[in-house]
Amino acid sequence: MELKLADYFSQKTCLVDKALDGFLPKASLKPAVLHRAMRYSLFAGGKRIRPLLCLAACEACGGEEARALPAAAAMECIHTYSLIHDDLPCMDDDDFRRGRPTSHKMFGEGIAVLAGDALLTLAFEILSQVRPTPRYPLAILLSELSHAAGSRKLIAGQVADLEGEGRRPTREGLRFIHRCKTAAMIVVSLRLGAMTANASPAPLRALTTFGENLGLAFQVIDDILDITQTSEQLGKSAGKDVNAEKITYPSLIGLKASEQEAQRLTRLALNSLRTFKQNGHTLQALAHFLLKRQQ
Ligand code: IPE
Ligand code: IPE
Ligand code: MG
Ligand code: MG
Ligand code: MG
Repeated sequence: MELKLADYFSQKTCLVDKALDGFLPKASLKPAVLHRAMRYSLFAGGKRIRPLLCLAACEACGGEEARALPAAAAMECIHTYSLIHDDLPCMDDDDFRRGRPTSHKMFGEGIAVLAGDALLTLAFEILSQVRPTPRYPLAILLSELSHAAGSRKLIAGQVADLEGEGRRPTREGLRFIHRCKTAAMIVVSLRLGAMTANASPAPLRALTTFGENLGLAFQVIDDILDITQTSEQLGKSAGKDVNAEKITYPSLIGLKASEQEAQRLTRLALNSLRTFKQNGHTLQALAHFLLKRQQ
């Protein structure tokens, strides 16, 4: 089972990377420094969780994986942009990401900001290449992604995360941050995958609930790993949340209770997959993998 998942991971990651390579402007194309910077962060070896969830959601809804590929690639572009900007000195101020110096360390702040801008914009160009299905015209897909990446979700979470530094955490405030900055992108990855399979409303709702809980669990685990792992293991700087006095689950309820919370949220996520029977197998395996992940 573990081995099968590892095979699945490398096969799908390869597929996503090939698609991304095809969608991205060549590194030599003017302005070469910008295109190099976009590729530098994108091909630094991220886990590709959002694209994998997108493909697996399409599969769970009986769709053809190839039709979900542009959506999967678009998700990784937005995610990578959010990491480049998250690492900037004016945000989390991190030097190390995906096992390499961060974009601004390598290319300077100006190019890092612009590489993030370009990846964000490119995501919509890529998504517009999805072949629409009867229930979901392109306008719906574009509006789903804009909403999730916009000022009411991803960016709202980043704002609350920054404003929370040094403040006293509340459970509600923390939930809001996690729901917006992390879960929204996980939810939309699943929804877009399902939409490329022309999913009916019930499975789409089930995947949304799955994503909300999985996304919350994902960020609780990210907060735990920041404390329990080394920078080498993570491929990004460890211990930074305590230094920056971030609002996190461990800071609110401690490590042990945070681990239990991640398990509880993963169980809730898994419950909503029941309706898919064996078609939900890959999503199930991904949820188990994410709970046990070490980076
Ligand atoms: C890191 O995401 C940022 C969070 C939302 C916690 P990932 O842990 O998916 O990072 P990569 O893509 O594998 O580098
Ligand atoms: C998630 O939060 C960041 C994004 C939404 C991009 P973190 O700030 O905790 O992510 P890491 O730990 O730097 O990857
Ligand atoms: Mg951050
Ligand atoms: Mg950060
Ligand atoms: Mg973190």
